Amino acid sequence: MNTTTSSLEKKHFPVMLDEVIQTCLPLNKDQLIIDCTFGGGGYSKELLKFPNIKVIAMDRDKSVINKAKNLEKNFPNKFTFYNEKFSNLDKVIEKENKPDVIIFDLGLSTFQLQDYSRGFSFKSNEKIDMQMGLSETSAEEVINTLDEKSLKLIIKILGEEKEAGKIAKNIIKTRALKKIDTVTELVRIIERSKKKNYSKKINVCTKTFQALRIFVNKETTELIEGLIKASQFIKSGGKIIVISFHSIEDKIIKYYFTNYSPNKSNPSRYMPTENNQKNSFFEKYKNNFSTPSSNELIKNPASRSAKLRAAVRTEQEFIYPKDFKEKFKKYTDIEDAAI
Ligand SMILES: C[S@@+](CC[C@H](N)C(=O)[O-])C[C@H]1O[C@@H](n2cnc3c(N)ncnc32)[C@H](O)[C@@H]1O
Repeated sequence: MNTTTSSLEKKHFPVMLDEVIQTCLPLNKDQLIIDCTFGGGGYSKELLKFPNIKVIAMDRDKSVINKAKNLEKNFPNKFTFYNEKFSNLDKVIEKENKPDVIIFDLGLSTFQLQDYSRGFSFKSNEKIDMQMGLSETSAEEVINTLDEKSLKLIIKILGEEKEAGKIAKNIIKTRALKKIDTVTELVRIIERSKKKNYSKKINVCTKTFQALRIFVNKETTELIEGLIKASQFIKSGGKIIVISFHSIEDKIIKYYFTNYSPNKSNPSRYMPTENNQKNSFFEKYKNNFSTPSSNELIKNPASRSAKLRAAVRTEQEFIYPKDFKEKFKKYTDIEDAAI
């Protein structure tokens, strides 16, 4: 292991690890847990300490394969890894062995952010890549080929950036003179486009970078497909745990857990609604979530926007939740735009 990796290793704090473990309890009986976001392996490694627990992990990023393969060697009957995306969750679940818990810890890992060659960090001066893995395009291709209207839409809707129009216009102007190659060039364009009185709390580039990353990796489509497949294949009584880091993700999770549990708008779990699609996949869910403890915030300030939500699957038969997909079409249609 080289020094760069080991220094990164020291800084790796799995977000809300204690809360995730608490939510998985009881861990003294046989359980199959799917860790959909292996990353640095923080959750998987902790869960494997419990003798009765088996873990299937997945991650779209091929850079984690070596670490995961080592864990497979150390825990041959307890741990399996797949280089797969949430949208293929059904491929990693054996039909006869339904999971008890499915965990999604969304977003980027410390390793991805700190590897400047991946172009996720605005501190990088390398290629504007932003591919998490198994992606179909790069941020470099997006900003150098899409038209102004599409760029504006991506930055405005997926980044929730008010000054998207100006940023898109300046990207087009700049690339008419020269292809935009590096993260630094993109950062300069965003800085030039933003009003000077922007909030000092978040970096001026945060929203545009978030938008490009979400688009390149089709993150809202992946989350929606992942949640649907998790609720289709999990055991009844099983738990789906999701940690989100920004408002679009959180909106999607909150909507799914709330609207597919018995609540005011769906008074009886047995009563079909107008389009016959509303289901009570989950036990009563009243918008409960937890956030990192003050201790964790001191140790790892990057965890500050984390929100953990968990829902318990009912016995109800799975019926495809068409209106859930319909509800967030605004985001997924943008991600489907052809490059
Ligand atoms: C925040 S990190 C997870 C960190 C991990 N919980 C730990 O303790 O080290 C998120 C990971 O999820 C992966 N990921 C994000 N979206 C994914 C998707 N749609 N399918 C599979 N993996 C995904 C990323 O590549 C990244 O490695």
